[in-house]
Amino acid sequence: MCGIVGYIGKEQVAPILLEGLSRLEYRGYDSAGVAVYSEKEGGLVVKKTKGRLQVLSDVLQGGAALDGTVGIGHTRWATHGAPSDVNSHPQVSRSGRIAVVHNGIIENYVELKAFLIDKGVPFVSETDTEVVAQLVEYFYKGDILQAVYESLHLIEGAYALGILCADAPDQLIAVRKDNPMILGYGDGFNFMASDVTAVIKYTRDVVYMDNGELAILTRDGIQCYNSMMQPVEKEISRVDWEIDAAEKGGYEHFMFKEIMEQPDALRHAIFPRIRDGEVFFENFGLDEDYIRRMDKIYIVACGSSYHVGMVGKYNIERLLRRPVEVALASEFRYMDPILTDHTLVIVISQSGETLDSMAALREAKRLGATVLSIVNVVGSSIARESDVVLYTWAGPEIAVATTKAYSTQLAVLDLLALHFARVLGTIELGEYRATLDEFLLLPGKLETVLADRDQVQYLASQYFNHSSVFFIGRNLDYAMGLEGSLKLKEISYIHSEAYASGELKHGTISLIEDGTLVFALGTCGRLFEKAMSNVVEVKARGADVLAVTTESRREAMARTADAVMTIPDTCDMLLPSLGIAHLQLFAYYVALMRGCDIDKPRNLAKSVTVE
Ligand code: M6R
Repeated sequence: MCGIVGYIGKEQVAPILLEGLSRLEYRGYDSAGVAVYSEKEGGLVVKKTKGRLQVLSDVLQGGAALDGTVGIGHTRWATHGAPSDVNSHPQVSRSGRIAVVHNGIIENYVELKAFLIDKGVPFVSETDTEVVAQLVEYFYKGDILQAVYESLHLIEGAYALGILCADAPDQLIAVRKDNPMILGYGDGFNFMASDVTAVIKYTRDVVYMDNGELAILTRDGIQCYNSMMQPVEKEISRVDWEIDAAEKGGYEHFMFKEIMEQPDALRHAIFPRIRDGEVFFENFGLDEDYIRRMDKIYIVACGSSYHVGMVGKYNIERLLRRPVEVALASEFRYMDPILTDHTLVIVISQSGETLDSMAALREAKRLGATVLSIVNVVGSSIARESDVVLYTWAGPEIAVATTKAYSTQLAVLDLLALHFARVLGTIELGEYRATLDEFLLLPGKLETVLADRDQVQYLASQYFNHSSVFFIGRNLDYAMGLEGSLKLKEISYIHSEAYASGELKHGTISLIEDGTLVFALGTCGRLFEKAMSNVVEVKARGADVLAVTTESRREAMARTADAVMTIPDTCDMLLPSLGIAHLQLFAYYVALMRGCDIDKPRNLAKSVTVE
């Protein structure tokens, strides 16, 4: 939710911190700040401002206004205390000697604050993070690492911390518990950061810190410690993607770039996983015996990843004849789920750091289930704590509104369903092979859908000023509508709802009146007639209907709908993978026409690491 970057080296640190923060801004963008050790000043210089990173960058003249070669920076998504200069990070101890940047939530900050106030410590901000800075100073007797270590015994919650002490300007301290922190290794310099994107310009050699670990960074090296302060040797991983993957590359918005990247992302996710006419998962940890004993599948996720699960439920139940439950991760952990040793829990997450999903994963494991995760970010917490991981290989996704991660999650989940069906013998060989052929054609078919974007842009120009939109469909179309509706509301701020079409008549149809915009999703062939009946019903009540269907049904749909967007015909299970592109593009163009900040929608952040 917040972004942290820290650097120690020989270069001027402020421009490096600003550059790193610019790559982390997707994690939170309501304020930003840096703390730098300045020899000239003989102490820490802290600059922080409310608003986007650009405001801070202007104040710092792009970094030129600050002198120093070691520092920490932060971009914030407010939890405790409104966005303001004083609530921005770094938070500083009362003497100004210790600066802290934090991602996460200190759950017992009220008690700790009361304890410190009782000891005469004054507080200036409303943040939970200031408690950390003050507590470390409270324990500080000349050894900053020891003071941090003692403080951690009292702190409860989730945190990634970056700490700089004016008395020890040749080192930085990084701490990680339940929020991400990576360490970047350079020649004469080292980094800490919330995410690889912040350091990739300087180094590809990274370490993913584990829970409870601390690290001391100097110019010459990094030493990691476990939660008992015993030194640990960490394996250095080499990042294998290029910096351009995290840049706009000529596109106006990351979201549009990522929409257009979907065919290639699907190629990466699918092609290596189909070999000799079979689904193939490398180092797959679920053997055939386990798959045969599986009594139930739970899919647990948040937001768009949850919508992938909704599509998956329809596909898996149809193919496997095994029950599938889809649960919102934030509900799952408190709903006392019924799991057995034979229940497979599938956790889906782009970031691999979503706290609700992480907590659900741990609950599932505690209850004895096997956890398989479908994750995009390599080395993320969810990936590391799962029994089995399938990566989506979509590359870095920067826009807050997910697109290519959604598509690749769906493809991987569908492949998994096919694999299970093959092992269980619930699919005929002919259908299995034909479906795999369709998988191989999917990226090319998606390219043709995206090539039709002018039509979607035109429709967006006709309807962008509507204040309420309905997405209706049955079965897979309903599941796809959930995602279409979320895309529209999160970036354009238009109220929208997705409904199972058959449910409209049980109440919601009373909202349909002259000019209400309805997206009618009718791609599922076997339910097309039913979909048409619902289109007729809403048309009869005055709705403007934009429809999505397959090429073979365009004509039938066009008799009633006001406009029809089509997708190439394909097997049922892949219809949402094509149809969603029209809905993503519609949301994008509407937001563009409404002048919204598409990549950084209000109140949101890419990686949601608070409960
Ligand atoms: O990283 P995750 O997939 O776990 O994130 C889950 C949701 O926060 C995420 O899908 C969110 O709904 C997106 N902003 C939707 O575009």
